[in-house]
Formats: sequence, C-alpha cells, structure tokens
Amino acid sequence: MTDAAAPAVIAEAARALAAGEVLAFPTETVYGLGADAANPVAVERVFALKQRPSTHPLIVHLASLDHARRWAESVPEVGLALARRFWPGPLTLIVRKAAHVDAIVTGGQHTIGLRVPSHPIAQQLLRAFGAIGSGAIAAPSANRFGRLSATCAAHVRDEFGDGVRLVVDGGASDVGIESTIVDVSSGRAVLLRPGAIDVPQLAAVLGELPSAPDAHSPRASGTLASHYAPTARVMLVEPDLVAEVARFLVDDGKSVAVLARTAGEPLLPSVRWQRAPRDPVPYAHELYATLRALDRSGTEVIVVERLPAEGAWSAIVDRLARAAAERTGSADDLAEDPQPGAPEQ
Ligand code: TXA
Ligand code: MG
Repeated sequence: MTDAAAPAVIAEAARALAAGEVLAFPTETVYGLGADAANPVAVERVFALKQRPSTHPLIVHLASLDHARRWAESVPEVGLALARRFWPGPLTLIVRKAAHVDAIVTGGQHTIGLRVPSHPIAQQLLRAFGAIGSGAIAAPSANRFGRLSATCAAHVRDEFGDGVRLVVDGGASDVGIESTIVDVSSGRAVLLRPGAIDVPQLAAVLGELPSAPDAHSPRASGTLASHYAPTARVMLVEPDLVAEVARFLVDDGKSVAVLARTAGEPLLPSVRWQRAPRDPVPYAHELYATLRALDRSGTEVIVVERLPAEGAWSAIVDRLARAAAERTGSADDLAEDPQPGAPEQ
C-alpha cells in the first residue's frame, strides 16, 4: 500500500469530485469508483460507467463517524458500537437514510450503506473534499457489474480504460476483498456480506452472533449467486482431487490453471500451478490479482482447492463460491435474480 499521494493529486481529485466528475480511488479493501454523493447527476454517471442496474445501492464513504451520522436518519446503538470499534476500517453499516439523501444513491431504498475507510489516501481525499464540497463519496467497487473488484490502479484501468480520467494510485489494497456489510437498520445486526471483519470479531462487540439475512433483508448485489467472477470458469475442488480434476480437464483439451495452497504436481507440466498463501489474510490480499492474471493468460478453467469454511476464511469462501456459480447471462439477468440478500456459503 502506498500511504501518501502528492498533495497536488489529492487537491485535484477533490476538485474533480466537487465538479461532478467520477474518479477511482484506493481503499483498504478494494478500489472505489467514486462521485459526490450529494450530486445525483454525478452518481448517475457511476451507474452508467459500471453498467450497474439503478436498483443496486452504492456505499457512501465518509471521513468519520460524525460525518457519517449526517447521512443517517439515526444510527441505532448496535451500529454505534460497531462503528466505534471498527471505523475507520473495512465495515459498511446499513442504516435508515437521512431525508436529504437522493434516491439514486440508495437505489430507491429507505436505507443507506455508510463506510469510513482507513486507507490514508481515502482519508486525505475525503477530508480535502469535505473542505470544498460535501465530503461524501458514493462509490461501488471499481469494476464492471458482476466482475472482480479492482485491488490496484492497473485493474481499474483494465476495467474502464479511458472511461475514467482520474485514477488515484494508492498501490495494492491491503485487505483485497470487499468490506463486511452489517444491516443495523432494524436495531439488530444482520450480516449481509462477510468480509475482513469476521463473525467472531462482530460477536465480540455485539455480545451475540449477528443474524443471518431473511426474506425481509435488503438485497445486496454482492450477494447475488454469480458475482465477483473472472472470465475463466472457476471450479472448487476438494484438495485431494485437485490434481486428478486438472489432469482430466487437460486431457479434455482445456487450458487449465490450479490455485492451491500445496506445491505443484510434477506430473502436470501443462497446468499452470499457482501456489496460494496458507493463511487467509495474504490469500485475500492476492486473490483478485491472481484471478485477473490467470484470466489474462488465457486460462479457460481455474481449479481452486476448496478452503476451510470457518473463521477468517469465510469471506474468501463466499467470494470463491460466487466466482464459481453458474452465470445466468447478462448483468441484467443477474439484477433480476429474485434471491434476497442471503449470502450462500
Ligand atoms: O469494500 C467495499 O465495500 C468497497 C469499497 C470501495 O468501499 N465497495 C463495494 O461496493 O464493495 P459495491 O457497490 O461493489 O458493493 C456494495 C454492496 C452492494 O452489494 C450493495 O447492494 C450493498 O453494498 N448496499 C449498499 N447500500 C445498501 C443498502 N442501503 N441496503 C442494502 N445493501 C446495500
Ligand atoms: Mg462490487
């Protein structure tokens, strides 16, 4: 992670936001594609660039809890407790929106996603923008709808090319996967999307486990079955079957890569064996960059060694399951997925 951007870059980025421009900026989770949350026309451009359906709300990024409270009608006690413990950091809270928030930001819902990122450049940008504008950046992950999030500036350029003029470069995002999303709008904590802040950490603050989403929970696009997907097909395979499945696919004429925590299989010279870190923190940090690199290399099938489903692995397991899910077709088909926000593990 690059901790500092030249002050001139931050000042230019803040001015661009104030002028209604869309830009990309680093956060500790993944890069965001941001616009002034108080400017509906600018926010509209984010949806257009991302090709994201208008019913899918954006997260509003703010410099501090005090700033965040101005975008909420109220923040229930559980939300305050989580915010005080985990902000700035990789946690998004869903709360009831303040009256002034434009419906485009929230996808027409009565709730809003709020996050205070810890990345120093994101913080500098939010504060510089706060001095000349709203100080609130509505930003989804900086990727086209349904695709892998971007964890460095080059990924953003790969996704949008000249479509985004300003990409503030903060190096590789530390965490590497998207924030944990907790809906506290009902006064109790419902985990909508697992992330770097895991269930035991949430439970330590809540005094109980967060609830799972039910049919009444809001929908989150990141919880659709097929999301966060590379172009290559992803197969999740038990560790002791990885080599066998890879061999079968090679015999079938496929271009195959393996992502596993174990050393390569010497009998499989035609398979690109990608050694993955043994621990969840570095695994998450590298995951999207690795999947993107395999895509670029023309790999048709990525055989991913199945991971333990518990503890700090659960957010990674969630993303890999979505990458492996059958694609139903276009982004619009995904948007019409009738699933409520239940993250399928
Ligand atoms: O780590 C992250 O959360 C990154 C960085 C840039 O902050 N952002 C991110 O944004 O992943 P996005 O838009 O790709 O995913 C945000 C998720 C979406 O699934 C969206 O539907 C959900 O948050 N969301 C936002 N506002 C919501 C709301 N009011 N109710 C329910 N879900 C909401
Ligand atoms: Mg996203």
